[in-house]
Amino acid sequence: MYSHTYTNSDSHSHRNEDSSSWHPDSNTSAPTTTYSKRKRTDPALPDATTHSKRQKVSRSGYRSTNDDTILVQYHYNSRPKVDISKRGESKIIFMRNFNNWVKSVLIGRHAVRGGTVLDLGCGKGGDLLKWKKAGIARYIGLDIAEVAIKHAKERWRDMKVRSTIKNKGRKFVVEFNTLDCFSFPLSTKISRTCEFDVVSMQFSLHYAFENKSRARMALRNITSNLKQGGKFIGTIPDANWIVKRLKALPKDELAFGNEIYNIRFEQKETFPTFGHKYWFWLADAVDCPEYLVHFRTFERLAAEYGLELKYKKRFHDVYNEAKDEQTFRELLYVMKVIRENPDDGEMSEAEWEAAGLYIAFAFEKVR
Ligand SMILES: C[S@@+](CC[C@H](N)C(=O)[O-])C[C@H]1O[C@@H](n2cnc3c(N)ncnc32)[C@H](O)[C@@H]1O
Repeated sequence: MYSHTYTNSDSHSHRNEDSSSWHPDSNTSAPTTTYSKRKRTDPALPDATTHSKRQKVSRSGYRSTNDDTILVQYHYNSRPKVDISKRGESKIIFMRNFNNWVKSVLIGRHAVRGGTVLDLGCGKGGDLLKWKKAGIARYIGLDIAEVAIKHAKERWRDMKVRSTIKNKGRKFVVEFNTLDCFSFPLSTKISRTCEFDVVSMQFSLHYAFENKSRARMALRNITSNLKQGGKFIGTIPDANWIVKRLKALPKDELAFGNEIYNIRFEQKETFPTFGHKYWFWLADAVDCPEYLVHFRTFERLAAEYGLELKYKKRFHDVYNEAKDEQTFRELLYVMKVIRENPDDGEMSEAEWEAAGLYIAFAFEKVR
C-alpha cells in the first residue's frame, strides 16, 4: 500500500464559495505530472451533443431529465453484471476492495443496530452485505438506473438464499426501487411515515451538482424522512484536489490521470459552484460526465436542510486513521485490500492515486 504518498490534513476550508469562481485550498498537495488528453471513442455511448432535450414533466410538475442525466443513466444501465469469480480480474480490484473498505468504516461507525437505512444511488446493491453485517433491520435502495436495480434485486435474492442457511430468523427487510432522486421527491416512491436512522449516498451525490435545483432536490430527499439526530453519510470526489490538479497543468491542457483513471475538463477559465462538468473515466467502472462538488457550498446548502457536518476526510486519511483499529484492521484482510500472502499482489501506485480522489463525509440532522 502506498500509504506514505498522501498524508494531507483534513481541511474544511474553501474560499470564494459563493462566487462563480473558486480556488482550491492551498494546503492540498497536487502532483504536477501531466497526462495526455483522452478522447471518447466508444461508439456505443449516446452523444450528449446530439441527444435531443428530453425533458419530462411529471404530473406533480417535477422536471426530468436533461441530456447528461440520460447519459449517466445509460452508462449505469449498461454496466455488465460481473460474475463474482471474475471480479478478481479487474485492473482496479485492489482499489475496489479499498473503496469498499472505506465504505465499511463509514457504515460501521454510523449504522444503528435495528435501524432503517435509505441508500440513494444504490447501484447494484453493493453495500447490502455491509449494512446487513452492521445489524440494521430495514434497507431501502433507490437508483435512476433500472438495470442496476434489477441486478440489486437479484443480489438480494441470492443473499437471502445464502443467509437462510447461515443466520436464520434475523430480521432484515430490503426494498429496491427506481427513482431519479435529483428530479423527483421521495414521496413519489416512499411513504411519508417511513423514517430513517441513516441516509447513505456512496459515489452518487456529485451527479446532483449539475445545478442548484437538483442539489436541492437531493438534499430535500436526504432530509425529508431522516430522523432528528439521524446521520447522512457519503463519498464523493474531492473537488478541491481535482481543481488543484487541473490548475497545475500546462495552460492548454485539460486532462490528467494515469493508466486506470482520467479526468477531462471542457474548460478551465471559469469555476462555477454548480454545473462544473468533467468527464470521468475509471477502468472497468465509470465513463460519464460528473460535476465538481464545491464542499463549502454543499455544506451551506446542507445547513439549510438542518444538516451539520461532523466528519470529512480524504480516503487516504480514513485509511491512516482506521487501519490500526482492530475491527477495521482485520477487515482490510477480510476484504482483500491487503493480502495475507504478498504473492497475491498489492494495490498499485496508480490505484492508490485514484483512490485518493475521494472523500468520505458524515452529517447529522440537528434541526
Ligand atoms: C458510482 S455508482 C455507485 C453505486 C453504489 N452507491 C456503490 O457505492 O456501489 C453511482 C450511482 O448513482 C446513480 N445515480 C446517478 N444519478 C442518479 C439520480 N439522479 N438518481 C438516482 N441515482 C442516480 C447511478 O445510476 C449509479 O448507480
